[in-house]
Amino acid sequence: MSSTLLAIETSCDETAAAVLAETGDPARPWEIRSNVVASQTEIHREWGGVVPELASRQHVRDICGVVEAALTRAAVAATDLRAVAVTQGPGLVGSLLVGVAFAKAFGQALGLPVIPVHHLAGHIESLVLAHGELPMPAAILVVSGGHTSLYFVPEPGRYQLIGRTRDDAAGEAYDKVAKLLGLGYPGGPAIDRLAREGNDRAYDFPIARLTHADRNAPASTAPHGLLPPDVARRVDFSFSGLKTAVLRLVREQAGEPATGKAGSADSLGGTLGPQQVADIAASFQRVVVNVLLDRTFEAARWLGARSVGISGGVSANSRLRAEAEARSARHGLPVFVPPLALSTDNAAMIGAAALRQLQRGASGRYDFNAEASLPL
Ligand code: KG4
Ligand code: ZN
Repeated sequence: MSSTLLAIETSCDETAAAVLAETGDPARPWEIRSNVVASQTEIHREWGGVVPELASRQHVRDICGVVEAALTRAAVAATDLRAVAVTQGPGLVGSLLVGVAFAKAFGQALGLPVIPVHHLAGHIESLVLAHGELPMPAAILVVSGGHTSLYFVPEPGRYQLIGRTRDDAAGEAYDKVAKLLGLGYPGGPAIDRLAREGNDRAYDFPIARLTHADRNAPASTAPHGLLPPDVARRVDFSFSGLKTAVLRLVREQAGEPATGKAGSADSLGGTLGPQQVADIAASFQRVVVNVLLDRTFEAARWLGARSVGISGGVSANSRLRAEAEARSARHGLPVFVPPLALSTDNAAMIGAAALRQLQRGASGRYDFNAEASLPL
């Protein structure tokens, strides 16, 4: 039992704990012994989004029970653990603090090393947890409510950021558009469902291009020399213009003046017919999925990637999964997506990223704090 590890994740609105073990098989190095998630969605739904103060208070209520459940389901005694892993950031600092404080206290009491984990390293390693080691090098897109980040992974455990969103994350765009259409929170699953009944060509929403020709465009994210400059620019993302275009259209269709800033409007969806709402959802989703996959596959091609990975909450999207598979077949490039339970936030992925660190020689530490923003 010396290779078992307890992992804790509290970066946003799920209190999660998991027990993982090493398998000894280099191709499939880790297995899940238990994976427990207490979701706060019901609490935040009433407010139309995550309320940070409510989230951290609920983590405090849930953390002990969730950890206990993870240990019980894994049939592992605390004294059999080798280490404790915890999400250090990025995320809501009040939420992160609950997990970090718990992990340090638990580790201290049992004399265990504590491994601080980057949340996005967790989303990346969720792919390995689900599918075993990916063919390297890999291009991996992490697409969630807080992030839209594209990584080049030249070897297991080395993550090079090559593209990210300049404004909203893709999941955030889903959530905002859903709110506008009166579909409730969280918006991703609602739009995903509704889009199946809509015409995805009903509206032609624009997508921002951070092109070389735009002199005001910020410098690209990819390290110099890794990609040709125009490609490097193209693999950054921007979703706020799309969200504003949806807002304008909804206002226009609802007979309101089409001016004003996105986000300032409350739901106007109630004034539209159900088919109109479904058409908007489908058209919005087509653009988001295309832009995510166009850029990921373009980067993968330039980088000579031998696999593509897509993880994070938005990777649960059915159109994204189907389109990714179709492109995989077309390009002859294997694409990996985690199963639903590992797509949205969970602690098993944090455990996997910690085991990766241990494999690469890390030994754990106590001199770290919860960090709302943290580079990877
Ligand atoms: O990874 P995650 O659970 O939390 C963050 O780290 O942000 O991702 C949550 C995000 C939310 O924005 C949610 O709307 C989105 O993932 N999401 C989806 C789907 N399921 C969840 N977006 C599109 N389609 C889905 N089926
Ligand atoms: Zn996440």
